[in-house]
Amino acid sequence: MRRCAATIVAVAALVAAPGAGQIARPFDARQGRPFDVAQGRPFDVAQGRPFDVAQGRLRPPDVKYVPTPQSAVDAMLELARVTAADVVYDLGSGDGRIPITAAKKYGARGVGIEIDMFYLRDAIDNRAKAGVGDRVTFLNQDLFEADISQATVVTLFLLPRLNQQLIPKLKRELRPGTRIVSHQFDMGEQWPPEETRDVDGLTIYLWTIR
Ligand SMILES: C[S@@+](CC[C@H](N)C(=O)[O-])C[C@H]1O[C@@H](n2cnc3c(N)ncnc32)[C@H](O)[C@@H]1O
Repeated sequence: MRRCAATIVAVAALVAAPGAGQIARPFDARQGRPFDVAQGRPFDVAQGRPFDVAQGRLRPPDVKYVPTPQSAVDAMLELARVTAADVVYDLGSGDGRIPITAAKKYGARGVGIEIDMFYLRDAIDNRAKAGVGDRVTFLNQDLFEADISQATVVTLFLLPRLNQQLIPKLKRELRPGTRIVSHQFDMGEQWPPEETRDVDGLTIYLWTIR
């Protein structure tokens, strides 16, 4: 009952407002192009030149930015048994805290996929402050289009509906043994979690690709 109420509150906080893509910043009309910002400034891989951050979003986001509390980030990485051998992909990476923590605490490689340059710029600043620029990459991509096949750990804080939409992609692209950890939302009845943990009133879930 308590978990059900917490889920309703979390969904309400995360659902993107109608028209959210139009109000704050214009978004890039050249949809689907990856922008590799690993070098510390946005870089348009397809065009082979720096990207103008003022162009904003690829398209309106599917879920609003709400950060995972650091205690839950730590618990998610622990639940996934992250080591220096892992490549941790956060789908919808916001300010980059999950891949940055994976690199700083465990020496893992991190990749953040984020549709909104506004948050990606924060992530780039945070990566520099954390001194993990050699191990963390941020890509301005739509998480549904991104190539996630190199991941050994995938982290999610999206919405129940988005988790369920992602199931075919996760099962198709990820290799056996890859762990998936989700903050707050499960995958529905079609894919029950292997393990569930409560962290300061929040819930995190674990699955493994078989
Ligand atoms: C709830 S926040 C989670 C941020 C971060 N993963 C964390 O746990 O702190 C969801 C993020 O997903 C991004 N997002 C929404 N739709 C997306 C999409 N289709 N592709 C990539 N990122 C998306 C939002 O801009 C936002 O930063």
